[in-house]
This record gives sequence, C-alpha cells and structure tokens, in this order.
Amino acid sequence: MGKPLIIANWKMNFSVLEAESFAEFFVKNFTVSNVEPVIAPSFVFLQSVSSIFKSKVSLAAQNVSEKSKGSFTGEVSVDMVKPFCKYVLVGHSERRQFFSESNVLVAEKTLTILSAGLIPVICVGESADDHKWGKRDSVLLDQIQAVLKKVPQLDWSKLIFAYEPVWAIGSGQTPSVPEIEDAVSFIQKITLNHQQVLYGGSVSSKNAKEILSISLLSGLLVGSASLNVKEFLEILRIASNLRK
Ligand code: PGA
Repeated sequence: MGKPLIIANWKMNFSVLEAESFAEFFVKNFTVSNVEPVIAPSFVFLQSVSSIFKSKVSLAAQNVSEKSKGSFTGEVSVDMVKPFCKYVLVGHSERRQFFSESNVLVAEKTLTILSAGLIPVICVGESADDHKWGKRDSVLLDQIQAVLKKVPQLDWSKLIFAYEPVWAIGSGQTPSVPEIEDAVSFIQKITLNHQQVLYGGSVSSKNAKEILSISLLSGLLVGSASLNVKEFLEILRIASNLRK
C-alpha cells in the first residue's frame, strides 16, 4: 500500500483570507513525509491556495460538471480545475441529497473526470434508514455498479471510493471498526479488488488511529475536523506514525 491519502473536505467554509492563512500555517508546520495530504477547497480558492501549498499538498475539487463546456450557467468544468487539482470528489452525499445527483449522473461525472486525466474520489454510503433496515449492501451495490457500467474495466484501477455512511457525516457517530472493515471489503469485492477505499464520516484526531488501524483502508476523508489546521495536522501525524 502507498502513502495514506488524507483528504480535507472544506465544503462551503472559509473566506479567501481564512483559506490562505490555513495554507500558510500548514506549509510551515507540516513535516511528515509518508502521507499524502489533499485539500478540497471551494473552487474560488483553488488558485490562491495552490500557490501557497505548492507541492506540499495535492488539491481536489469538491465537484465538477459532467459537461465539458458550454452554456451551463454556474457550472465548473473539469478543464477549469485541472491546472490546480489532482483529484475530484464526486457523488458526495450532500450533492446526492441537496442537489439531486443520481447514480447515473455520478457515473457520468466520473467518466468526465477520468477523461481529463484526474482521479475521481467517488463517495458512496447508506442513509440512516438504509442502515437501520440492513440495506447497506444493496445501496452500495447500486451506487457502485452505476459507475462500473460506465467506466471501462481497464480504468477501474484508477477509481478511488470513499465509504461515507450518510448517518456518520457531521454527526459525531462512526460505524465500529468491524463494520467499516466489512463495508470496505464489500466495496473491494464488487470492484474486483481494483481500487483504493477511504473512510469518511466524523473522523477526528480522537478516532483516526483506530480507523486507520484497518489495513484495508487507503486513507480518510475528513470534513469538519479538517477546518482546524492544528487538528488536521494532528490527523496527518497520526496517519504517518501508523503507516511507517
Ligand atoms: P465530517 O464530514 O467529517 O464532518 O463528518 C465528512 C464528509 O462529509 O466528507
């Protein structure tokens, strides 16, 4: 396994000045080398923070359009983010829930991202109700199969999945270690063990060690805890100590 990938999803937070001061503090204080930090800022900060982070941090877009260009007011194309980003988050549960992104749309976006030579991080996971009624596997299967139907099998190894149970996001609740292990191995089984799987949902410096002890995991997707630069640095330190 390569370096653990630790992605900070800033969502719709920070002003440009706050984003820049995070980046400045981060580059001065980030010293570990065997971990890959990734920041997913708002589109409008990509250019300014990339000039501060330079090669210390990879950037991810939080979303892109499935269309390559044209009259789509308010949309952002993959070519627009490409000069700054290595990764693109796709199908985050907030996009699925609040912006009605379907499994088919997520699959189309994934193809657009791959065609541009960027790496899609596809978020999948069951809702609280699905969890309660034991439907996790069928939800994961639908979400993932929609992507695998569109993406040629030759490219499956380029996909990264993030297992993010919706009920764990921003709630302070996380699945148990065996539950995460089980979901990750299920995802790997569906995808014929081709790609990396991350975990996201209420990750903090308090539980990062326990979650990263799951050897099947390739890293973490961190939301609210990543908005505090010292907390994010601490999660990176924990990841680097564990995976030496
Ligand atoms: P959270 O968010 O860490 O605040 O739960 C994770 C995510 O939405 O990716």
